[in-house]
Amino acid sequence: MAAAPEPASPARLVVLVSGSGTNLQALLDAVAEHGAAAYGAEVVAVGADRPDIEGLRRAERAGLPTFVERVRDHPTRAAWDAALAEAVAAHRPDLVVSAGFMKIVGADFLARFGGRFINTHPALLPSFPGAHAVGDALAHGVKVTGCTIHFVDAGIDSGPIIAQGVVELREDDDESSLHERIKDVERRLLVEVVGRLARDGYTVKGRKVSIP
Ligand code: GRF
Repeated sequence: MAAAPEPASPARLVVLVSGSGTNLQALLDAVAEHGAAAYGAEVVAVGADRPDIEGLRRAERAGLPTFVERVRDHPTRAAWDAALAEAVAAHRPDLVVSAGFMKIVGADFLARFGGRFINTHPALLPSFPGAHAVGDALAHGVKVTGCTIHFVDAGIDSGPIIAQGVVELREDDDESSLHERIKDVERRLLVEVVGRLARDGYTVKGRKVSIP
């Protein structure tokens, strides 16, 4: 994967969501608290793969443009992927953030945004990729889990790792209690990582991500 292009200042973020959008909210709060110039980035639009979700309502409350691309509204998965890429590109992002976006993007999207498309995942990759990471880790009986922020490649949660946060299991954890503790760590890590990528730039050599 090549070095990322020089970001504009502040970096333009398009955030993709599918659910409650608390990771999106953490980014919005960081920009509001520090100011876009000091934080190094601003959210310019929020996209989703489904309507009527709290993630989109958070964006609307923040006065941001939103867009929805549902797979079922397109004749093929590839057509959906191309439409999603177009909708994102319209907002000229420097970085695209998948924050609880529950879809795997395809070749068109990666051709345009590969190397500047990051995802947050609620497990310590490469353990427990996929949509059921928290339950899978719990069922496996792990003693520690956490979250991973990584660049997206053509695989499932398999791209170069940028940062990870650790969460210890408790005896009485269920999937919901564990996921909430992971999300606490995840939100802070996402805010920190996006700010650092935007302010300091980064290189990706093979699997190794470096932020100067
Ligand atoms: C996060 O834990 C993310 O890693 C996972 O879904 C959750 C999204 O939470 N894929 P939210 O929508 O940001 O509240």
